[in-house]
Amino acid sequence: MTTEPDIKKGLAGVVVDYTAISKVNPETNSLLYRGYPVQELAATQPFEAVAYLLWHGELPDEVQLAQLRTLERSYRHLPADVRAVIDRVPIDAHPMDEVRTAASLIGARDLAGMGSVLDASGSAEENLARSIRLFAVLPAIVAYGQRRRRGLDPIEPRDDLDYAANFLWMTFGDVPEDVVVDAFNRSMILYAEHSFNASTFTARVIASTLSDLYSAVVGAIGALKGPLHGGANEAVLHIFDEIGDASNVVPWLDEALAHKRKIMGFGHRVYKRGDSRVPTMKAALDTLVEHYGRQEVAELYDKLESEFVSRKGIYPNLDYPSGPAYNLMGFDTPTFTPLFVAARVTGWTAHIMEQLASNALIRPLSAYNGPDERHVEGYVPDEAMAAVAARAEEAAD
Ligand SMILES: CC(C)(COP(=O)(O)OP(=O)(O)OC[C@H]1O[C@@H](n2cnc3c(N)ncnc32)[C@H](O)[C@@H]1OP(=O)(O)O)[C@@H](O)C(=O)NCCC(=O)NCCS
Repeated sequence: MTTEPDIKKGLAGVVVDYTAISKVNPETNSLLYRGYPVQELAATQPFEAVAYLLWHGELPDEVQLAQLRTLERSYRHLPADVRAVIDRVPIDAHPMDEVRTAASLIGARDLAGMGSVLDASGSAEENLARSIRLFAVLPAIVAYGQRRRRGLDPIEPRDDLDYAANFLWMTFGDVPEDVVVDAFNRSMILYAEHSFNASTFTARVIASTLSDLYSAVVGAIGALKGPLHGGANEAVLHIFDEIGDASNVVPWLDEALAHKRKIMGFGHRVYKRGDSRVPTMKAALDTLVEHYGRQEVAELYDKLESEFVSRKGIYPNLDYPSGPAYNLMGFDTPTFTPLFVAARVTGWTAHIMEQLASNALIRPLSAYNGPDERHVEGYVPDEAMAAVAARAEEAAD
């Protein structure tokens, strides 16, 4: 008698491995990066320091932070050949395709001359250097993507600015007020890491084959693009555009729920009573609403949230406040998920390095439910096939 396998669809509830990088606790609604509550980090740290924390396990001291910043600034520039490749991506392709392609080229340039795939996975030092390089250059790629779609040239990075301010500078050609830079910095920190989410797990699967860090990041970018994962921040803005203003929320929601539509920016695989990152990002959104005098955005936000939560008992996730926040900052809607890439690359690379430090190839099993064994008409078994058949018969006895 065969027993039914205990299948965990979507790996829901399956604990795959240990991680020391972050802890998601849906019971206490908390998220810790290396032990620190993410809200504390968002309130006190520049994004570079959080990147350091994720990679090294400790916050940097002044000297360590200065060293990371020097390195990060040295890799900020968009290389000419990367720009040329971006320019060849169709202008109406999704920017996530552009970012994925650019990240792939960054990897190919960096690993050029490597003789064999046996060397691909790299040493811990090499992978840290690769992580910093990607972290540093992604803002230039994302910023140029938005500018290109607006018919504009890239802007050279500025050495006198921190990561967040320089990112905004390269995108818009000016440095906004501190309140905007601070909201952006907070969003990067909140997006940086979230344990074994789909894209991070993708990165770990790829790393576990001893492929290279860049390949793992490129795969993760592909996973993040999906609207059930990173693509949701962009999808939230599409929903806001559809609804228009708060007075339309009720009829819009009636219609959407009647058609069983998923409301993007709500729900989470792990958090069932609210996403721990939302209050911090919502507070940042509120400061932006105030700063730009856009009260109607907050009204729409609040109305959709209260209506949806009261009807379905499903709470907003981080993409719900970050979508409108990025919109207010001036980012075009398709740029939102690439911003998530720029932030999450820190978590991905930390996980890739953790995976490699105690690697086991990730290779789950499946339960077959296709057709029973059958044979191609006219096929005459050769010796090898006859041996396979004999072994199968023996095993069945
Ligand atoms: C994130 C998400 C994929 C988690 O999904 P999950 O844990 O697999 O849960 P399910 O998708 O199976 O949802 C369970 C139930 O809640 C409903 N539900 C969950 N999120 C919903 C949403 N955003 N809108 C409407 N219904 C939702 C499902 O339709 C399902 O209902 P059913 O049992 O009647 O079929 C899901 O909540 C979702 O699709 N959210 C929208 C996309 C999003 O914002 N993604 C970003 C995540 S950070």
